[in-house]
Parts: sequence; C-alpha cells; structure tokens
Amino acid sequence: MSAYERYAVTAASYDDTRWAAGQEVILGCLAQADGSLASMTLLDAGCGTGNYARALIDRVGRIEALDLEPAMLERAKAKLRGEEAAGRIRFHRGSVTELPFADAAVDGVMVNQMLHHLPGEPGDPLAGYRRAFAEFARVLRPGGVLVVNSCAPHQLDRGYWYYALIPEAARRIRERFPPLVTLRGMLEEEGMEWRGSFAPLDLVLMGEAYFDPRGPLDPVWRAGDSTFALVTPEELERALATLRRLEAEGRLERFLAEQDAEREKVGQITVFYARKPAGG
Ligand SMILES: C[S@@+](CC[C@H](N)C(=O)[O-])C[C@H]1O[C@@H](n2cnc3c(N)ncnc32)[C@H](O)[C@@H]1O
Repeated sequence: MSAYERYAVTAASYDDTRWAAGQEVILGCLAQADGSLASMTLLDAGCGTGNYARALIDRVGRIEALDLEPAMLERAKAKLRGEEAAGRIRFHRGSVTELPFADAAVDGVMVNQMLHHLPGEPGDPLAGYRRAFAEFARVLRPGGVLVVNSCAPHQLDRGYWYYALIPEAARRIRERFPPLVTLRGMLEEEGMEWRGSFAPLDLVLMGEAYFDPRGPLDPVWRAGDSTFALVTPEELERALATLRRLEAEGRLERFLAEQDAEREKVGQITVFYARKPAGG
C-alpha cells in the first residue's frame, strides 16, 4: 500500500483529475530499447487506474499491469476489458518491491508517479526505491529500458501553486522525492545505464482542473494530489480559511497566478530513463 495515500478510497475519483501526462516522452524513451515497440512486453509498475496502460496499449506488444491496491486495479480492468480478453494486457496484484515475474521477463518497465509512495525504513528512507530498482533491473531483459515519471525536488518547490497554502505538507512530500543525482546513483548500483531526463515544461499533471482557484475546497480535487494526504486537519483548516479569505478579498486569482509564475520554467514532472546493458 502507499505509505500515506488511501487509494482504496481515492480510486473512485482518481480519473477526475488525472490523465496519462507525459505519455509521448515515455513512449520515446521506451523506443530506445533493443527490438521494436510493436513486440515489446511492457511492465506498468503501479498502474493505478490504467490511464497510461490505456494510452500505450496500441503502441506496444503487450502489457503486464501491476498494482498493490485492488480498487485501483478494478478501475484499470474496467477500462481495458477488451484488451484483457484479447490477451494484450494482464493484471497482477502485487508490489513493485517483490515482482511476480521471472528474471529478464520484460523488455520495458514504466513507473508513473508511484515510487514516492513506497515506505522507507528506519535509517534508510529510500529503502523502497532501492528495492524497486533492484526488481526492475532483475525483470528487465538485457537491452531493455526502465522509464520513470516522477518529480524533481525543485519542481515541487516551484511547480504547484497550491503548495503555498500547505507548506508543511509540501516539505513532507519533498522528502519522498530524492534528487535525480541520487536516483541515478541508485540505478547505477543496480547495473543500469543512465540515459537521460526530460521535463515537459507546459504539462500539468491534473490537467485543466489544476487552474481552478477554488479547487482545494473540493475533496475530489484534493485527491488529485497525494500531498493533501500529508496535510493534518488543522493545516487543512488553515489552508481553506486562507483561500476563502483571498476569495472574499477578490485576490484569489492573483494569488494563483503569482504562485504559478515559475511553473512553466521548471515543469511539474521529470521523466528519466535507464537501460539494462545488452551484455548484462
Ligand atoms: C499516484 S498513483 C499512480 C497511478 C498510475 N501510475 C498513474 O500515474 O496514473 C500511485 C499508485 O501506486 C500504487 N502503489 C503504491 N504502493 C505500491 C507498491 N508497493 N506496489 C505497487 N503499486 C503500489 C497505488 O496503489 C497507486 O495506484
């Protein structure tokens, strides 16, 4: 399970605010694997409600979709029923830290916005990342690629207007996103070759909903960013009181614009990828 978000509940509204953001960049990285995309077996690790699987299913050979939360998997299955019946996708309940696949079983792995949910251990806050990377390296065949869609710490600092309303939670979520250089080192320890990173500057994870200045007042909107799961009831009360005051004073839209000013310079997400050496 996520270390902090209740996906059993969030599953019902997840698709109200989330889409397959960055799918073109992800596909471009997957295309760097040896062999053709059309014959690729792709693992969608932490597939959630299947938005990325659905976006890519017609571009790859087949997909193994895995998630730990049954309610998220149910949504994904409902979306891809025809493809499942045709044997183009299989669903698995399991953890990215203990994959139910043989060594060298897949040609590509994609991981979208999920690694920060993995719990750490006392003295090793990144233990979950380490385990997941070891598993991805194990199940990839030589010449295969791992693509991770995540956030760089500076994007969390400058790319989300509403974090100014919930500064404590913003600090807490930041601890779950290590710098790229740390992630690169961890992947190299698993024998993977770092290939590069990309930050699509104009892409917004929550889509149009992101620009709703009254969004934080709505629990469904808040469920679109798991940072809100790290907000205490007192902090939430304070944040919503601030928002209502800004609205009453006619300053809410300007507040959003000011807090959002840096986003297009840094973007909200970073996609990076690594390759398992062909001789490895
Ligand atoms: C923010 S959602 C991302 C879902 C999907 N990848 C997307 O981007 O739309 C995080 C997902 O990770 C799943 N998850 C959390 N811990 C997991 C684990 N240890 N193994 C597999 N999935 C996990 C959650 O159930 C949830 O579906």
